[in-house]
Amino acid sequence: MKKLLTAVAMLFMLNACSGQQANTQADPVNITSLGQSEITEVRAADVIPTYPKRGKSIERTFVHQPPLIPHKAQYPINLKKNSCMNCHSPAKAKRMKATEIDVSHLLADSKLNKHYYNCTQCHVPQADNKQPLVDNDFSAK
Ligand code: HEC
Ligand code: HEC
Repeated sequence: MKKLLTAVAMLFMLNACSGQQANTQADPVNITSLGQSEITEVRAADVIPTYPKRGKSIERTFVHQPPLIPHKAQYPINLKKNSCMNCHSPAKAKRMKATEIDVSHLLADSKLNKHYYNCTQCHVPQADNKQPLVDNDFSAK
């Protein structure tokens, strides 16, 4: 039984290796369901946006403005978890060197008011984008 298991494991490993080799081949891959597919259009990768330095908040432009997020905001917010709270919850903020969420976001028992759960509904990231995110043909004339 043990020998059989080892043989099966070896087969899996061999398979994994051959898979890797196939990926490095430059020739077009012929997959029957998709047909012959060749990549003809290539372009340079998008320029990575630069965010303000960690630990620096962006000055607010009006009173009670939800502060802009000075870092990337692709942290998942879903039914199971709110990743923003990993750094901004009152319990963790100090250790993560982040600002605690505003008291208005908390209930009397210091738990997050669920009305404020979807952080990016009000807080938006601010980055220096080296290329436009959307086309803009606005003209003032
Ligand atoms: C890995 C830790 C971490 C995570 C996760 C994180 N942040 Fe931050 N955040 C920081 C740090 C550090 C700063 C800079 C210090 C500061 O100004 O609070 C910051 C700053 C901010 C600020 C500016 C605060 C101010 O007073 O100007 C906002 C707003 C913010 N984050 C919102 C969010 C939101 C919304 C999410 C989830 C999408 C999130 N953060 C996830 C660490 C984090
Ligand atoms: C309904 C809109 C709204 C939602 C949702 C929301 N916020 Fe805010 N947030 C605000 C506003 C408005 C302020 C500014 C409060 C003020 O200055 O009066 C603020 C302030 C903050 C601050 C700065 C606090 C300070 O003392 O400077 C942080 C950090 C923050 N929010 C993080 C979060 C995080 C993390 C979430 C998600 C768990 C979240 N916010 C959800 C509107 C929102």
